[in-house]
Amino acid sequence: LERQLFWFHQLDSTNRYIMDNANRLQKGDTCIAETQSAGRGRRGRNWVSPYGCHLYQSVYWRLDDGFSAAMGLSLVVGLSLAESLTELGIDGIGLKWPNDIYRDSKKLAGVLVELKGSPDGPCHLIIGFGINVSMPTLAAKDIDQPWSDLCPNGELEVDKNALVEKLHAKLLVDLAEFELSGLTTFLERWHAFDEFRGREVLLTSSQNAVGGLYQGIDKEGNLKLLIDGFIKTYAGGEVSLRLF
Ligand code: BTN
Repeated sequence: LERQLFWFHQLDSTNRYIMDNANRLQKGDTCIAETQSAGRGRRGRNWVSPYGCHLYQSVYWRLDDGFSAAMGLSLVVGLSLAESLTELGIDGIGLKWPNDIYRDSKKLAGVLVELKGSPDGPCHLIIGFGINVSMPTLAAKDIDQPWSDLCPNGELEVDKNALVEKLHAKLLVDLAEFELSGLTTFLERWHAFDEFRGREVLLTSSQNAVGGLYQGIDKEGNLKLLIDGFIKTYAGGEVSLRLF
């Protein structure tokens, strides 16, 4: 099957590009920009996108049964990237629910899945991810959390073209498998990368914060926390998780 790759020197956001062109795209079509002037992060934040240093990519996908399957899908995206990086020989990779990728406990990559269409009919999915390849000193000062990249010792550990090819090929396989059989078959694999297993964590939303003992994720992709002797589950979306 032929896929299209749209490559730009500069865009406002690769997610925005895929979203605006969704109607004429095929599943697996993808867009890469060397820099983004308005890169989108989760929770309304900006994604710092200096020219030529990192990977800013969005993949188009479609789901027939609406928004409900999208949560599981975004977990699969994080897992797929984590496994690809590991298979490329990058060590120290971990996952933080719902779909951040860590390296040596510092953020290496982020995933932003955006939806367009009807909640219960067919919907467009925009699967965006940003991976720190080689962080320039000047850009680092704009980043508000510990970060890592793919050249911790000053030398790039993987060829960028090989990285793009591997990530994309595996992502398409994993998305197709998810559509066929759901999240269940991915859970073991996801847990193998889980950064927070057995740790005390703090879950925050715009309204409040709650602390508990992290218990992993359930088969719907919800987070499980042990709070005062009871297991409580939380859906993804606009919440964030960190070590207590
Ligand atoms: C996060 O906040 O962790 C998610 C960041 C996602 C950034 C990527 S870069 C490519 C794609 N286009 C965007 O505008 N955002 C995503």
